[in-house]
Amino acid sequence: MSRQKNLKTDILIIGCGIAGASAALEAAKSGLKVIVITKSKKLEESNTYYAQGGIVSLGYDDNPELLKEDIIETGDGINDPEAVGILTNKGKEIVENILINELKIPFSKSSQDSLDYAQEAGHSRRRILHVKDLTGKTIEEKFIEALKTYSNVTLLSDHTAVDLLTVPHHSKNPTSFYKEPQCIGVYALDNKVKKVKIIFATYTILATGGCGAIFLYTSNPSQAIGDGYALAYCAGARIVNMEYIQFHPTSLFHRDADGFLISETVRGEGARLKRKDGWTFMENYNLKKEMAPRDEVTRAIYEEMTNSNSNYVYLDLASYANIDIKKRFPNIYKTCLKYGIDITKEPIPVVPAAHYCCGGVLVDIWGKSSLKGLCAVGEVACTGVHGANRLASTSLLEGLIWGTRASKYIASHFNPVAPYKPSDIHEWYYPEKEEEIDPALINQDWLSIRSTMWNYTGIIRTKKRLERARADLDYLRHRIEKFYKEAKMDAKVVGLKHGIQVALLINYAALSNPVSRGAHYIKD
Ligand code: SIN
Repeated sequence: MSRQKNLKTDILIIGCGIAGASAALEAAKSGLKVIVITKSKKLEESNTYYAQGGIVSLGYDDNPELLKEDIIETGDGINDPEAVGILTNKGKEIVENILINELKIPFSKSSQDSLDYAQEAGHSRRRILHVKDLTGKTIEEKFIEALKTYSNVTLLSDHTAVDLLTVPHHSKNPTSFYKEPQCIGVYALDNKVKKVKIIFATYTILATGGCGAIFLYTSNPSQAIGDGYALAYCAGARIVNMEYIQFHPTSLFHRDADGFLISETVRGEGARLKRKDGWTFMENYNLKKEMAPRDEVTRAIYEEMTNSNSNYVYLDLASYANIDIKKRFPNIYKTCLKYGIDITKEPIPVVPAAHYCCGGVLVDIWGKSSLKGLCAVGEVACTGVHGANRLASTSLLEGLIWGTRASKYIASHFNPVAPYKPSDIHEWYYPEKEEEIDPALINQDWLSIRSTMWNYTGIIRTKKRLERARADLDYLRHRIEKFYKEAKMDAKVVGLKHGIQVALLINYAALSNPVSRGAHYIKD
């Protein structure tokens, strides 16, 4: 059996959206040796890349207290005030230092020397910085450009994290049981050669993003299946709040559009939601109408769709906007036009889609998880900022702040002495006879997971639906585990094993919490 050469680094970062990239940039500046792995071929492929709305800052008539109030109101009061305080007090400065001064992100302006602040639901002020409707793409590309200039950073795309390497679990040395459990790197699959190597790391930072793609309809890219939650859970780190899955109210309804997001900033510019018969309906649900928190808007749309037996509602920007639509939303305009919808002239058919996981790997104010040696940043982490529901456009900022803080912490506490001997650690085990994988089986398993999650663990949950989902998912897990043990090593098989684990984590959390709050809505 040909082996992959093992690697060793000071900091290993798994994932390279804004959280992973900002952790990598901060670590790079400290001079530590950094390896970043991403499972996609393209380093920039991440939820960050597709973020349209923008990044929260403080607007002109704004202050940290007002932002804090909005975050906690949207989060239904179960946010961690300390974490929220870090975001609201430090956010503006870090945006200015890293994004504006260092990376030179060309944020949109309302006049030659004033930044343009957009409005989104749940915000009492206009305070969202944006680059037209291409904010995430612009930020992500600039980060990668910057990382490529550091010789102490190795960027490895097409590498899938299979299992976090932990002692004592992966140790051959029986005395390791007397030590505190610790993460010391990862077993990583080189997707191209389909072989697993060990990457030993003094610190590992999970920055794998979210899990929207375990639902049938999602605004996330297809690889967002929550690998990081599964990796951390299997390694023994604490995971919390997984029932709070946020559904975005408006993704484009079109057979080929693949959950393309219609940003909330479109409603911020005045667009109204309408039933197919032309009725605006949000005033029946919330005084803030289209600017109500997104979980309420989502449920209103879901209800209207159910009551009128329709697959979508309309979002009408053309009749209400007081802006140059093509200039403000060039990406949405161009994409909708590709599907035959001219948003300057007609309403956009939209449906809700799974968008963001408010829970995750429990971390402290420096991004440290409950497992020694393991940090988590960005969507995979639960810092406590979002509580039961995330305020729009806070996630890029949370990723930027905690990514930077995790590496700052590591650099200032760095202890290069490895608590293990590489020869004590088990190499990856391949079964004697590796089964060829059948894509039809994998596709069907994914369809079962995704439709079970959408229908029974989705926007509106009931105890009965959740119990049915649990039984179906448990059975599926059993089959997938068996398949995983026998199949030829492949990123698709690893993804499926992680996906079913994450589906169960969400389902268990939802079943254990009978209280409807924020993004977790359970009907009697
Ligand atoms: C959007 O532009 O609507 C998405 C922003 C977010 O989810 O924070």
